[in-house]
Amino acid sequence: MSGAAREVTLVVDGRSVVVAEGASLLDAAGAAGVELPALCSDSRLSPVGSCRTCLVRADGRLAAACVTPAAAGTRVSTGTEELVDLRRDAVRTIVSALPSYALGPQVPSELARVCRDLGIGPQDARGSGGRGRDDSHPYVHLDRDLCIACGRCVRMCAEVQGTFALTLTGRGADTVVAPGTGGPWAESDCVACGGCVDTCPTGAITQPGEGSGLTSAELLPVVPRDAAAPDVVRTTCGFCGVGCALDVAVRDGAVAAVLPARDGPVNQGHACVKGRFAHGFAVSEERLTTPLLRGADGRLEPVTWEAAAAHIAQRLATAVDAYGPDSVAAISSARATNEENYLFQKFLRTVIGTNNIDNCSRLCHAPSAAGLVASFGLSGGTDAFDDLVRADCLLVVGANPVEAHPVVGARLLRSSLRGARLVVADPREVGLARYADVHLRPRPGTNVALFHGLAHVLLAEDLVDHGFLRERAGGVTELAALVASYPPEQVARLTGVPAADLVAAARLYGRAERPAIVYGLGVTEHLHGTDGVRTLANLAVLRGAVGTGHGYGVNPLRGQNNVQGASDMGALPDLLPGYGKVADPAARARAEAVWGGAVPSRPGLRIPDMFAAARAGTLRALWVLGEDVCATDPDTGNVERALDSCPFVVCSELFPSRTAQRADLVLPAASWLEKDGTFVNFDRRFQRVRPAIRPPGQARTDFAALHAVATAMGRDLGCTTPAAALAECARIAPLFAGLSHDRLDRETAVAWPCPDPAGPGTPKLYEERFATPDGLAHLAAVPYLPPGETPDDDHPLVLVTGRRWAHYNSGSMTRRSGNLGLAPVDQLDLHPDDAARHGIRDGEPVAVESRHGRARLTARISTETAPGQVFCAFHFPTSGVNRLTSGHADHATSCPEYKVTAVRVTAC
Ligand code: FES
Repeated sequence: MSGAAREVTLVVDGRSVVVAEGASLLDAAGAAGVELPALCSDSRLSPVGSCRTCLVRADGRLAAACVTPAAAGTRVSTGTEELVDLRRDAVRTIVSALPSYALGPQVPSELARVCRDLGIGPQDARGSGGRGRDDSHPYVHLDRDLCIACGRCVRMCAEVQGTFALTLTGRGADTVVAPGTGGPWAESDCVACGGCVDTCPTGAITQPGEGSGLTSAELLPVVPRDAAAPDVVRTTCGFCGVGCALDVAVRDGAVAAVLPARDGPVNQGHACVKGRFAHGFAVSEERLTTPLLRGADGRLEPVTWEAAAAHIAQRLATAVDAYGPDSVAAISSARATNEENYLFQKFLRTVIGTNNIDNCSRLCHAPSAAGLVASFGLSGGTDAFDDLVRADCLLVVGANPVEAHPVVGARLLRSSLRGARLVVADPREVGLARYADVHLRPRPGTNVALFHGLAHVLLAEDLVDHGFLRERAGGVTELAALVASYPPEQVARLTGVPAADLVAAARLYGRAERPAIVYGLGVTEHLHGTDGVRTLANLAVLRGAVGTGHGYGVNPLRGQNNVQGASDMGALPDLLPGYGKVADPAARARAEAVWGGAVPSRPGLRIPDMFAAARAGTLRALWVLGEDVCATDPDTGNVERALDSCPFVVCSELFPSRTAQRADLVLPAASWLEKDGTFVNFDRRFQRVRPAIRPPGQARTDFAALHAVATAMGRDLGCTTPAAALAECARIAPLFAGLSHDRLDRETAVAWPCPDPAGPGTPKLYEERFATPDGLAHLAAVPYLPPGETPDDDHPLVLVTGRRWAHYNSGSMTRRSGNLGLAPVDQLDLHPDDAARHGIRDGEPVAVESRHGRARLTARISTETAPGQVFCAFHFPTSGVNRLTSGHADHATSCPEYKVTAVRVTAC
């Protein structure tokens, strides 16, 4: 945790101002209400002091304010005629090399504003131009004639994004920004975070828009500090679980641009290609705009909402009457808001009378929930992201945040570049691995052995916190006895990780003062995923690096925008809102008192069990909300058979997905840009989601759809607004008792547990005691067991699946945006040795066959994958990747073993 910042007092234009120690004179001037021109400066970047437009006098000496520290007692003058003349001269010199249109009305840039203030006009811009444009990239355009070589874009790309894609080339007045690779922008390493567009002061770098493009200056004036302004809506990103705050600029009812909020609690003015640019899906012509009912001829035909709600009501009631409430099930959505998830589980429990509700955390982080609850007591990451990036050693396991959670990846990389030691454990050479002090590459499915090996070294070399283990942990003796049989040489045999690397990694983590663990689906999506989470958590406990000031715990990176919230809200078959067990009479009584009706006590079906019940004929109705289960769930053939076997399937969707195409009734849903509510991000922060645009046609929020169906069944779900739904949830769940929309509108983000409206949230967990029944952290002494799938002569390669940077999950949104141009197909990465062995060339189509199915992809030959392993995403359902994955699942939670599938690859 950071200590209190020290402050300094100085005098600016006769006015006393106080700034934080380390601030610049530019900051001090800003604190005094003086806005200086500062063309090479951006508060998110390190200062370079190259443009000389921010000149001031400090204690009589001329100084560039941006690079001069604010020292206590300094007397600063900013507004004398001499200084204004000097600044005007500096700006005029810069402008003289530009063509006159640089200051014309078509380029409303920061530079143009500065020139206007200083009385510099287009007549001062005398450059001849002719350096040309680069419009090769779908999202980032460059007009070289407007570049003043301030270097802000280059530093943004390096310091904030961590991609190092840009450089300044040329000499003197011909210096201009260019992709470091030398070719067109579209072929560079640019990952389109938009940071260069946001910081460019001249309009040289723009994003597509009216005229030649939208400059940062054109966008920024409409971004208010006041979220109530009518043309900009502050909301939370609806792609991954990072929870970036975004300002959506709206013109004529459509999204004009999406900008990262400078004061975003997590993203701090940064975004990724998805949140920043991939909003074209909202106006895709493929959006569903009316309810569709399958007719006698087997075709989906438009019907009114009234007819759709009445039909659903009648079919659900018929199933309940004939087969009982447990013949109905629902899959809720990590894409939907908390309030929609809350209402959906309430509908199932109070209107239908079943606990048959689950959400897609079953397919990703259910082992995190189970493992973290068993080890520490609560189902969430242990520490705040702001603290995590202060760690002096990061252990990043089974995660590729540079691609899957780019804003987190960039901040972790920044920590590493500033000196934090970095250990990456992942079979692939993921983005952070290139910067790692140690990269451990365990064979897929051997995590538990790897973590036991690390624990072995920590214990053998006495790199453990004895006081913490004595006072705050249980199970030390059992774990020590178990890991004694996991010496580095033995672990090397089990995992393929060289013993020396294992020891080096353990020493880095073990000797750090403030270590932190970040992990992803590479830990959870295994046959023994829960054991993986628990044995990874062992390391933090051994070090006393959880719930203390000696480290920042164990933190899962959540895949979907609201996968934490969907579970928090009780969209789970065994848990109520706030994680009360349905089997616990006291927890049920709390919910029943608020809902005014009985809550069933028998835990419901998990998603794989729902599909099995459908195939067996016992599940008679299934409502799938915002989840293309035919694209994302493993062993797709079995999922399709389940939907085909179920007599009535409802699907709420944005697009005619593969699941929608198999449904009996399809409801057109609103997207995250069209909804009111809240999301919970990966570090347990509740943040507001606000509608920026209206849903197309008759599309409605899932919140409205649930009310409509309940009404058609003659029931009133209460809580008629999302705000009322969160308020009601707060009455049931002590963890959320202090939360409300009003509070989140005032405070922006609050981390749960938040039991008291007057108290703060809890960004860091377990500072006094763990939330287990005995208050202790529980070490897990579970042995390593092999994965469910192993390669053989027929299927000699191991397939790992994950995400690519340009797309998201099944790609339903990103494929319907400009991102499709950035990554138009699903690729199969394979090592050059394997490519040669199987006669496969880069870029050619390949057939991938497992014991379960077949897929078709495009080969990408790369050393990022180890020999014997291949990697692909599942962003394009037509490639059929999830026909390959097996039915093996984590024994504790039924989370699929997506990360280990034996396959063979052939050219086709
Ligand atoms: Fe200070 Fe450029 S902003 S020198």
